[in-house]
Amino acid sequence: MKLFLDTANLEEIREGAELGVVTGVTTNPSLAAKEGIGGRDRYRAAVQEIADLIDGPISVEVVSLDAAGMIAEGRDIAEWIPNPWVKIPSTTEGFKAISVLARDDIKINQTLCFSVNQAILGAQAGSTVVSPFIGRLDDIGQAGMSLVEDIVALYRQHGISTLVMAASIRHTLHCTLAARAGADIATIPYGVLKQMAQHPLTDAGVSRFLQDWEKAGGA
Ligand code: G3P
Repeated sequence: MKLFLDTANLEEIREGAELGVVTGVTTNPSLAAKEGIGGRDRYRAAVQEIADLIDGPISVEVVSLDAAGMIAEGRDIAEWIPNPWVKIPSTTEGFKAISVLARDDIKINQTLCFSVNQAILGAQAGSTVVSPFIGRLDDIGQAGMSLVEDIVALYRQHGISTLVMAASIRHTLHCTLAARAGADIATIPYGVLKQMAQHPLTDAGVSRFLQDWEKAGGA
C-alpha cells in the first residue's frame, strides 16, 4: 500500500518527502483554507510548490457543483503540474464530469465516496482512483473500513482497474486495517505518518543499547 500525505502544508510535505515513504499528496478546499490558501491563483501556486517537492500524483479538487464547471476546472487543473489527479465528488454531476475528463485522459480521484454503488459508478465512468472516506463514516456510526473492504473485493471480483485510496484516515489503526483490506493507497495526515514510525519499545531499546555500549567502554 502506497502512502500519500493528506495536507496542503508545505513544511509537512517537505518533511514527509525527506522520510522517503510519501509518493503522492492529496489536497482539498478545506485543507487549502486551513493553510490560508484562498482563491484559485493561490491554490495553483501552492499545488505547483507541492509538485516541486513530491515526484508523484498530486490531487487537486474542483469546487464547481455542475458537470460543465467541473469539466472546465478539471481541464485547467490538468495543465498546472506534471502529474495531476483531479478530485471530483461522487455526485450525479460528478459522474458526468468524470466520464468526459477520463475520455480526455485526465486522471481522476473520485472523492467523497461513501457507498459501494458510488464506487461502481465511478469505475464505470473512468475514475483512476476512488477515495472511500473512512473517518467520516465512523463519525456517523458506520464501519468506514467495511466500505474499503467491500470496494476492494468487488473491484477484484470484476477485474476493475480503478485504484482504491483509503481517505479520511484518523489514526494508525486505520492505516493497518486499510493495508490489510487491500487498499492500493492510504492518504494520511502528517501526524498519523509520524505516529506510524513510533513505538515506545523501539525508543527504550535504542536507549538501552547505548547505555550498555557506554558501560562497556563506548566508542
Ligand atoms: O482525503 C480526504 C480527507 O481530507 C478527509 O479527511 O479528516 O476531513 O474527514 P477528514
